[in-house]
Amino acid sequence: MKVACTGRSRALGARIAEHLGAVLAETRTSRFPDGEIYLQTGPLDETTIVVGSLLSGDSLVELLLLIDACQRSEVILVVPYLGYARQDRAFKPGEPVSARAMARALSTGVSRVVTVNVHKETVLSHFTVPASQVNLAPEVGDFVGELGLEKPLILAPDRGAAPFAATVASRGGWESDYLEKTRISGEEVRVEPRKGGAWTGDVVLVDDIISTGGTIATAARMLRAQGARGVHAVCVHGLFAGTALTLLRSAGIGQIAASDTIESPESRYSAAGAITRALSR
Ligand code: R5P
Repeated sequence: MKVACTGRSRALGARIAEHLGAVLAETRTSRFPDGEIYLQTGPLDETTIVVGSLLSGDSLVELLLLIDACQRSEVILVVPYLGYARQDRAFKPGEPVSARAMARALSTGVSRVVTVNVHKETVLSHFTVPASQVNLAPEVGDFVGELGLEKPLILAPDRGAAPFAATVASRGGWESDYLEKTRISGEEVRVEPRKGGAWTGDVVLVDDIISTGGTIATAARMLRAQGARGVHAVCVHGLFAGTALTLLRSAGIGQIAASDTIESPESRYSAAGAITRALSR
C-alpha cells in the first residue's frame, strides 16, 4: 500500500502514511504553458490511499488527475476537507447542489471515500461509492486539555455545533453550551448573549469551520464584554479566508487552532490518527 497526496495535503498525507506504516508515492506536478496542471506518479502498490483536500478549483483538478494517475491500483480516497459541502442544497431556484456535484466527481475511479467533519452528514449520500466521515471532536478535546485551562466552558457558536461541543467537553469533563446565531450575510452574523448567563472563566469556542472568522469574532467580542477571562477558538477546518486571522486576533482571541485538514501555521493538531483508524475499519 502507498499513500499519494496532493500538494496542499502533503503534511497530513505523510502523517497518515506513517500511521499506516506505508510509503509515500512519488508525485510530481508542474504547469503547462497555458496554466493547466501536469502530474506524474512514481511506482505504486496494489492499493493507493489518495489524500487531497478540496480547497479550490486547482486542488479539485489536481485531485482528479491524481486519482486518474493511480488507476493501475485500487484507489481509496481521503478528502480531509471537502470544500463546497456547505452548499448542500439549492437554496434558491437555479442553484446547484454543489456538494452533490463534488461528491459525484470524486466518486469516479475510487472504491471508497473517507472525509472529515463534513458540514452535513447528508452530503455523504451523494457519493456513488461507500463514503464515511471522521469526527475530530475527541482530538479537539485532547488538544484543549493540552492548553491547561482551568475548567473551560466549551461553547458552540450556533445550535448546529452543539453536539460537537458536547463531545469535545466530554473529553475533559467540562461544561458545554451553545449560542444562538443568525447569519446576516456571508461575512456578518448576529450572536445572542449566552442564555446560561455570563462566564467569567476561560471559554473555548469550537466549530467545524472557521472561514471569514465572522462567527467566532462576533461571539468572542460578546463573551469578553460579558467578562470572560480568556476566549480561545479551536476548529477542525481552518480556512481563514482573507483577513480572518486579523479579525480573530482583534476580537481578543488568545489561542487560535485548527487541524491539518487544511495545512497552515494554525494547524496545531492532526487528523491523521482518526483517519487511519477509519481506514482500518
Ligand atoms: C456554519 O454553519 C459553520 O459551522 C461555521 O460556523 C461557518 O462556516 C463559519 O463561517 P465564518 O467563519 O465565515 O463565520
